[in-house]
Amino acid sequence: MPPVVHTDRFSMYQGLIVLRKFLLVGIVCAALLHFMLHRFVQKKTMPTLATDSLKEYRTCYNEKFHLLLNITEVDPFLCEDFRKQSVTLGTNKLDLPYGTRRGERYLDQALKRLPKCSQPDEIKNISCKKCVVVGNGGVLRNSTLGKKIDSYDVIIRMNDGPVLGYEEDVGQKTTFRLCYPESIFSDALHYDPNTTVVLMMFKPHDAKWLSELLTNRRVSTYGFWRKPAMNLIYLPQQLRILNPFILRQVSQDILNFPTKFPKTEKPKHPTTGIIAITLAFHMCNEVHIAGFKYNLTSLNTTLHYYGNETMSVMAQNEYHNISAEQMFLRDLVERHTITNLT
Ligand SMILES: *[C@@H]1O[C@H](CO)[C@@H](O)[C@H](O)[C@H]1NC(C)=O
Ligand SMILES: *[C@@H]1O[C@H](CO)[C@@H](O)[C@H](O)[C@H]1NC(C)=O
Ligand SMILES: *[C@@H]1O[C@H](CO)[C@@H](O)[C@H](O)[C@H]1NC(C)=O
Ligand SMILES: *[C@@H]1O[C@H](CO)[C@@H](O)[C@H](O)[C@H]1NC(C)=O
Ligand SMILES: *[C@@H]1O[C@H](CO)[C@@H](O)[C@H](O)[C@H]1NC(C)=O
Ligand SMILES: *[C@@H]1O[C@H](CO)[C@@H](O)[C@H](O)[C@H]1NC(C)=O
Ligand SMILES: *[C@@H]1O[C@H](CO)[C@@H](O)[C@H](O)[C@H]1NC(C)=O
Ligand SMILES: *[C@@H]1O[C@H](CO)[C@@H](O)[C@H](O)[C@H]1NC(C)=O
Repeated sequence: MPPVVHTDRFSMYQGLIVLRKFLLVGIVCAALLHFMLHRFVQKKTMPTLATDSLKEYRTCYNEKFHLLLNITEVDPFLCEDFRKQSVTLGTNKLDLPYGTRRGERYLDQALKRLPKCSQPDEIKNISCKKCVVVGNGGVLRNSTLGKKIDSYDVIIRMNDGPVLGYEEDVGQKTTFRLCYPESIFSDALHYDPNTTVVLMMFKPHDAKWLSELLTNRRVSTYGFWRKPAMNLIYLPQQLRILNPFILRQVSQDILNFPTKFPKTEKPKHPTTGIIAITLAFHMCNEVHIAGFKYNLTSLNTTLHYYGNETMSVMAQNEYHNISAEQMFLRDLVERHTITNLT
């Protein structure tokens, strides 16, 4: 064999090896890059997807809720290590209510004394949850919806909307109750051992209030717009703190409130009702609502299913944008994302 050919063939062979090496390195690099990008995208869109929700996500996934929440599902309640999660979610850079800043110290103190930060076991165990969110609207008066409401897996109520004396219209079971220091029951008459109370923290004083109550210190009433509860009728294991990320989701992604308001205008915050519905999107597979109809033009009708306040109280409220919320709910009902019982 002529040596020239041999060298040529040899170099060709060598070239092929080099080429193969390049290809191999290329493929490995591409795979690595793909993996890293995938991780990056996943991290961006699904910050700390809870193991519980992940399980549910596979068995009983509701795409409509998923889209609404902009693919961001988070643990709904704060745990003792909330600071780590706040960094991932960016809530460490925002003041309360949409972040944890200025409340961390009190949240640390309070969370140290709350033994649980997940859903109650008997609720967690239900794989496909049918939930009803019961608003406090006057439309529930004489509705006789009590039995129907009690038939759901999860019943979410809000603030001091009573069950006692209104069972026929609003039912008697309460799985979750969302409230804040000015709206939580303080009369043991309303105690329910089967309720988990979800506290919303709107201001540093709210976190301070909770840490004072849990450590049996004197409760300061300074900084509240109405006298807060001076005692806790619930046990520490019944309390949870709502993740501020959910408040931010409601305000910015769902209601599209501006992040800054002019000095002449009161900053708008979502109502407890719309926060409760968003919390339900995080935990439930089907969401029905009742008691959410507010007709702002008929000022004479009663605001709540209890008490004597009229719609004019709500119409004067500068902290909420009721029409924006009603528009959002109407849209959800029209698209069959939720069902309205009233
Ligand atoms: C929940 O389910 C787990 C395992 O599936 C079981 O061990 C536990 O007893 C259940 N808890 C309740 C309260 O039903
Ligand atoms: C509810 O029913 C009671 C008794 O039947 C009646 O007196 C009252 O006017 C009703 N209220 C409304 C808002 O319809
Ligand atoms: C709490 O739940 C238990 C078990 O389901 C039930 O027997 C009890 O009646 C409930 N208590 C109240 C006040 O609803
Ligand atoms: C969804 O999230 C992305 C970033 O994560 C953001 O840019 C976008 O505005 C969000 N969309 C809605 C509708 O909130
Ligand atoms: C609201 O109330 C006004 C006045 O009472 C009435 O004309 C209107 O039809 C009501 N709107 C709805 C949506 O019920
Ligand atoms: C509001 O109700 C009162 C009595 O309950 C009545 O006198 C008044 O005319 C009502 N006003 C309107 C605008 O319906
Ligand atoms: C509401 O009004 C009725 C009749 O005017 C009165 O008997 C009742 O005590 C009032 N309820 C409250 C909570 O103020
Ligand atoms: C309330 O929301 C609606 C719809 O987003 C908006 O057009 C309106 O200006 C808002 N009102 C106030 C007082 O912010």
